[in-house]
Parts: sequence; C-alpha cells; structure tokens
Amino acid sequence: MRPQPVASEHTPLKARNVAFDWADTPLHWIPGDPASTHTINVLHLLLPAGERWFVHVYKQALPLIRDPELRADVIGFIGQEAMHAQAHDDVLPHLKEQGLDPTPYTAQVDWLFEKLLGDRTLPPGRASEWWLRERVAMIAAIEHYTAFLGHWVLNAGALDAKGADPTMLDLLRWHGAEEVEHRSVAFDLFVHLDGGYRRRVRTWATAFSALVFLWQRGTRFFMENDPTLVGGKAVVRDFVRGGRQGVLPTTGAIARSIPQYLSRTYHPSQHGSTEQALAYLDHSPAATAATATATATATATATGGA
Ligand SMILES: [Fe+2]
Ligand SMILES: [Fe+2]
Repeated sequence: MRPQPVASEHTPLKARNVAFDWADTPLHWIPGDPASTHTINVLHLLLPAGERWFVHVYKQALPLIRDPELRADVIGFIGQEAMHAQAHDDVLPHLKEQGLDPTPYTAQVDWLFEKLLGDRTLPPGRASEWWLRERVAMIAAIEHYTAFLGHWVLNAGALDAKGADPTMLDLLRWHGAEEVEHRSVAFDLFVHLDGGYRRRVRTWATAFSALVFLWQRGTRFFMENDPTLVGGKAVVRDFVRGGRQGVLPTTGAIARSIPQYLSRTYHPSQHGSTEQALAYLDHSPAATAATATATATATATATGGA
C-alpha cells in the first residue's frame, strides 16, 4: 500500500507579501473568551521559530531533490513559510504593548528549534544525513497539523459569529489557506527522500507529543501572565468547551487526525480543499492588498517607473 495523492489538489505556490495593522485588535480578540483567544495565540509563540526552522532544514534538503516539480514546490513552500513566520512575529510587539511580554516563552522555543533541533556538531556523512531525514519527517508530521488547523479555521464560522477581530481572523485564514494550499509539499519531500513507515510513526509521535506539550505550556503562560485576568489558568475544560462552541478544534477531530496520518495510504491531498483555500485567498484583505502591491510594482518596473 502506497500513499495515494489526489492530483487535482495540486497548485503552483507563491508567497504573498502580506502586512497587518494590529492597532485596533483587542487583547481578547475573541470577545469575552480569553481562554480560547490565548489557546490560538500560542501560534504566535511557536510559529516564528518553528517555520524559520522549516526553512533552515529545507535549504539543506534542496540539493538532494531529484524531481523538478517537487523542487519548485519546496521553493514555493520556503517562501510561504518565511512570510508566515514574519507575520506571526509582528503580532508579538502588539501583545507586549498590551502587557503580555512573550519573551520568556519565545526564548525557550528559540532554544528548542535552534539548538535541540538545529544542526548539532555532527560530522559530515551518515549521521548528518540521518538527522536531516529525521527532521524532514518531523516537518511532514507537523504540516499534517498545520493543514488540519488551516482547514479548521477556514470553516470556523463560530469565530465570525462571536465577533472575533477581523484582522486576526484574516491573519489566521490567510495563513491557514496557504497551509491547505501547500499541505502536500512536506509529505512529498519526506516520501522523496525517505518515506519509511517506521520513521513516519516515530517522528509523528515526537511531533505530536511536543505540540501538545508546547501548546498547553503556551496557553498556561498567556493565561497566567494576562494582566487583565486574576488567577488565570489554562484548563482542559476550557479547551473542550471552546471545541464545543466551535471557536477551537474539537478533541474528537484532533483524535481522528491521528489514524489519518498513520494510515499507510495517507496523502495530505486527501484532506482539505485547495479550491476553498484559493477562494479565501482571492478575497482575503491582506492577500488581495499584497497582490495589488506586487502587480503595481511589476507594472512600474515594466514601464520604467519608480
Ligand atoms: Fe505556515
Ligand atoms: Fe506549512
């Protein structure tokens, strides 16, 4: 049994050079729900370092790619992830202005990705090649969850119904849509370079455990340091309630995502919709502004203007 891709889900990738203005975004951008707000805010803590790490690892993997289409996909993926890291990083000063300094947490996340999961001082040869394959497999497992979250947020109408801040929603949906758009790249690269089933299971277990651990710690960090909350705590009950209300993924959906990834015929293109992702990107305020700026710049260059 082999992974079974759905060819019609493939699309060429390009980075969109987005920008967001956080001036009007309140601290609790899901009104009246700090616990769900901060659960989602953990993305801003993990993604800048995490996605830069993807880019770092993939630049090392590029010379090993023998398929020109996959190479183009990986280059598109690198461009998109670099932009995602930047966009989430730009939220952090806004949180700091609102009294939530994320530095103690992000310093730990930076150490995790730059040192623990970095290049180490391995000698050239088998050991460093093994470590590169291991990290490529870990990224494929993490991308299963970024695609899962992307699909979720594109369909989370409860966030709109609750009056969630439109700028934050656009950041999450622009990013989520690009995660859906490029959801097959990390898995395809893993299959191209290795694809071993035991490695897939092992690295999934590492990635999933790390995500659960980092997420609950990050939520706890925000809840305990939120200057507007007295005795704020991160509790499982709030997470389950957020899922039931549709402002967070449900525990059931998260549980179902596990056998999906571990199925021997799994391919990311079987889940989520590229058409839906592209439809969102066609209307996203940030993505359309980025496209308009890119078009204006290209026109000015072509006509010899400034
Ligand atoms: Fe991303
Ligand atoms: Fe991604």
